[in-house]
Amino acid sequence: MDGMLRGFWYLAVSAQSLKRGKTLAVSLLGEALLLGRRADGSVFAVSDACPHRGMPMRHGSFDGQTLRCCYHGWAFRSTDGCCTEIPSLAPDDRTDPGKFRLRTYPAQDVQGNVWVHIGAPGVEPGPVPTVPGFAGEAPQVTTTMRFPCAVDLAAWGFFDPGHPAFVHTSRWWKKDPASRLRLKEKEFEPDGMGFRMLQHHLKEGANPYRLLGRNVQIDIGVQLPGVRIEHIKGDRHSACVLAAATPVSATETDVHYCVYWTVKWLAPLRPIAAWMARDFLNQDREVAARLMGNPALPAPLFVGDPDAQVRWYMRLKKEYLAARDEGRPFVNPLREQTLHWRS
Ligand code: FES
Ligand SMILES: [Fe+2]
Repeated sequence: MDGMLRGFWYLAVSAQSLKRGKTLAVSLLGEALLLGRRADGSVFAVSDACPHRGMPMRHGSFDGQTLRCCYHGWAFRSTDGCCTEIPSLAPDDRTDPGKFRLRTYPAQDVQGNVWVHIGAPGVEPGPVPTVPGFAGEAPQVTTTMRFPCAVDLAAWGFFDPGHPAFVHTSRWWKKDPASRLRLKEKEFEPDGMGFRMLQHHLKEGANPYRLLGRNVQIDIGVQLPGVRIEHIKGDRHSACVLAAATPVSATETDVHYCVYWTVKWLAPLRPIAAWMARDFLNQDREVAARLMGNPALPAPLFVGDPDAQVRWYMRLKKEYLAARDEGRPFVNPLREQTLHWRS
């Protein structure tokens, strides 16, 4: 098993990186895809291999509606991948170009991100994950970083409360966090294909959260295949942080980090916030690089409550695959639980 789950929407790229009338080659779960944005603004995803001889379509042209391969000039509709023209056919040739197709993938532009559905037999695409309260809005800050590891290691960082005090030690976040560990008690419940940390009050807030006002409440949801949505609400403002781990291949993962907020006057500070997000994410990337640099990496241990969420994530994945193999519905294997840890 390569750890990459099929049958889900994956955050592929930030919407702003896909311009009208342009295409962008990406790799998702080891598959080469070509993303594009049509002249009308809608997005699409097709296989990056021409069905004729396999020329990557990225080398061809796109006029805002139709893709054309650079090798023999076959043309394909971006909507359904159907071949509409084979220029070298003589006028009386009976070959029907319409029998040849570029494989297409469902793609959507939602809340400032382009999501692509990587299918699995018998799985109908459900709704794209969304952050609450920001319908139709793009993130104020968006960062993508490529991690040199498989998706699991990248995703574990989203719900591993034992590491931040030792890894995220930037001065702007918390001062000397490892010497000030506090006992935490958090309640969790199963939710869909994941789990949720129930809403709780922020006691001693990390610095940026204070901008949202008093009485800051947080709830956090984690869903397969590796999406974490944190919703933070103060008495004046709210914010959401969307983190998504998208496997590029079995050994590389793109971690996307998007921050949405309602604090209007913060707009000029976006470059600083983007720098902070990169700083934060880079610390996690560095952990992955160090681990992958260990040629004798042992099997991981998941110990006690601090590692419970990582265990849950692995159980959810196992159940998803078992349900698919057995042709039955997914049954969330988790139950309500209170976890304790120091962080
Ligand atoms: S390989 Fe694409 S048209 Fe021949
Ligand atoms: Fe982290």
